[in-house]
Amino acid sequence: MRHFLTLKDFTKNELLEMIDLAIKIKAQTKQREYVPYLKQQTLGMIFEKSSTRTRVSFETGIYQLGGVGLFLSANDIQLGRGEPMKDTARVISAMVDMVMIRTYEQAKIEEFAAYSKVPVINGLTDKYHPVQIMADYMTMMEFGKSQNAVVAYVGDGNNVANSWVLLASLLGFELRIATPKGYECHDDVVAFARDKKANVSFGNDPKEAIRGANVVTTDTWVSMGQEEQKEQKLKDFKGYLVDDEMMALAQEGAMFLHCLPAYRGYEVSEKVFEDHAHEVFSEAENRLHVQKGIMVWLDNHRGIHE
Ligand code: CP
Ligand code: NVA
Repeated sequence: MRHFLTLKDFTKNELLEMIDLAIKIKAQTKQREYVPYLKQQTLGMIFEKSSTRTRVSFETGIYQLGGVGLFLSANDIQLGRGEPMKDTARVISAMVDMVMIRTYEQAKIEEFAAYSKVPVINGLTDKYHPVQIMADYMTMMEFGKSQNAVVAYVGDGNNVANSWVLLASLLGFELRIATPKGYECHDDVVAFARDKKANVSFGNDPKEAIRGANVVTTDTWVSMGQEEQKEQKLKDFKGYLVDDEMMALAQEGAMFLHCLPAYRGYEVSEKVFEDHAHEVFSEAENRLHVQKGIMVWLDNHRGIHE
């Protein structure tokens, strides 16, 4: 059995297999052909943070695959009143076929997985957002940007940036990360890229990162759970707004991606966002298709690698 907690646990081939499945199932879905790959299976979805895309994509995805999703807000289950994660894991995983969790510390999801009888998927932690980056790469493929890709990520060295670093290190595309000083990616993530001799650079100059890139991406400056840091971050992220002037440094026809929700006037200008809305909302839609690819892949690998 495999869990999907961090991209580090997978090979390039395995990640591309999941995306291939997503592309195949997307084509079927577009024909309104809902193949029940996960017939009668139940996906438990535990949320300790808010969500629009992750919730809707997983819940719709499992339903279209012939199963059902259980939305379990931490406020409504005993976890929110202090029942231990490991007890929650043993109870829920004895009743459902797969679990998706959105939470704070990566250690919490790892603890859940250690006690789970079924595959566990990371729907975002403070450290990683792997399902998002899989959808982002799928969108790059669809828009013809994955060959000779040069991706520039400018913004916070957070869960989204960390996952970009892991994906680039595993798939082998060029990634340039620019973060303000003090907001760099996590040390072990940087070390992973260095160990893999990946084509990933880390710096503090957004213009240098964007120059010549064919994909420009960013994320909110204030992630969920960091609301009290907002005032400080708005000062520290000065110069990181992706606007027309920044996009002009990229390759002509460069793509702009944003995992959403987007805060106009902070990390991206209204103009850049709306000019690239087709790309950004294709990326959002691909969350649905990629979740399906990942769930079907994990289901196909039950009993393997135990
Ligand atoms: N991008 C993303 O994960 O969106 P939600 O927070 O709405 O799920
Ligand atoms: N970095 C953001 C991503 C939201 C999808 C957060 O953690 O809030």
